[in-house]
Amino acid sequence: MTLSKNPDSIAPHGGQLVNRIATPEQREFFLSKGDYLPRVELDQRAVSDLEMIAIGGFSPLTGFMNQQDYDRVVTEMRLANGTVWSIPVTLSVTEEVAAPLQIGGLVRLDDPTGRYVGVLELKEKYTYDKEREAINVYRTNDIKHPGVKVLYDQGSVNLAGEVWLLQRDSHPLFPAYQIDPAESRKMFQAKGWKTIVGFQTRNPIHRAHEYIQKCAMETVDGLFLHPLVGATKEDDIPADVRMRCYEILLENYYPADRVILAINPAAMRYAGPREAIFHALVRKNYGCTHFIVGRDHAGVGDYYGTYDAQYIFDEFAPEELGIIPMKFEHAFYCTRTKQMATTKTSASTPAERVHLSGTKVREMLRRGELPPPEFSRPEVAAELARAMRVPMSVV
Ligand code: ADX
Repeated sequence: MTLSKNPDSIAPHGGQLVNRIATPEQREFFLSKGDYLPRVELDQRAVSDLEMIAIGGFSPLTGFMNQQDYDRVVTEMRLANGTVWSIPVTLSVTEEVAAPLQIGGLVRLDDPTGRYVGVLELKEKYTYDKEREAINVYRTNDIKHPGVKVLYDQGSVNLAGEVWLLQRDSHPLFPAYQIDPAESRKMFQAKGWKTIVGFQTRNPIHRAHEYIQKCAMETVDGLFLHPLVGATKEDDIPADVRMRCYEILLENYYPADRVILAINPAAMRYAGPREAIFHALVRKNYGCTHFIVGRDHAGVGDYYGTYDAQYIFDEFAPEELGIIPMKFEHAFYCTRTKQMATTKTSASTPAERVHLSGTKVREMLRRGELPPPEFSRPEVAAELARAMRVPMSVV
């Protein structure tokens, strides 16, 4: 595994941490031009992508992908120069929006509220094959898949080029947890952590999460708990509720000095195996040396096999990934031993295993039921019930 110039920290993907936040001079220049530049309105996912590129979370990307990178990512999970990259990061617009834009010119990027948030130096416009992207990236062209739906709904022209984020605003909901890659790297060093395991999640934390995190924590210096707070599908639990659950859990059940909680501003793609690689590379950019991949990581419905997101790591040499996956079997509560376990550690019969998932808990809450203590710490269950307005009689 390559180390960066600082021998104490892991190298960002591609070797250098990207910073595309406009300098004060650039910002002044872009603002002075703002009224005269052609505008493109970004959707929530593109706003997240812009932010992730700018803060270095998507290093080595410095902008939205050109056709060469895009094609090779879709077909081979590599950028044009061979660097591993599994998910297209594209700015897709309609033909009407793309047509008047001049190659070589600057494009003003607005967020969905019309706020001027960034600039693209347009290098290329290209059309692409949605079916090919769906089949390769999502392994399905089923429109019911939330990632495929976004793909089929978006425009048919990709705009490519380097970007600048006009300024780094503090997060409206979670300013204390807005920790960018340059900062997390410094925090890890300040704590003297040499091995750090990253944890991706989009669900309220449950006991299987806690179990696999703690198994990992037994062998590394620190846990970087990194819930995704960008766009998720509508029925996922809102990020503010999830963050409160993490706070409650950390306060009660984790050693304070061995965990850093931070938000991941990226959007969910639900691309299962390919997204697991992507999630790992992003955490490498934040300075993690290890990354947890459990059951059906970043999956949705029945589109992926339970461990497909683990097998995909074997398609790459360890040094080209530069971050070590920590793979965990499907964890459950074992009623025989009264603790969390997997089939690797438990002699239980199937009837003695309590299997629950984020999906099941969402369904229970919607029916007005509380997740049981085998599934969720009671303080977390109470918070979920409060947030989801489950009648107090059952709390
Ligand atoms: S994800 O879409 O972000 O992957 P989720 O928040 O549910 O969804 O999962 C976070 C991580 O925990 C993923 O690595 C996932 O594979 C893992 N995980 C979730 N539930 C279990 C479980 N019961 N057993 C083992 N790993 C799990």
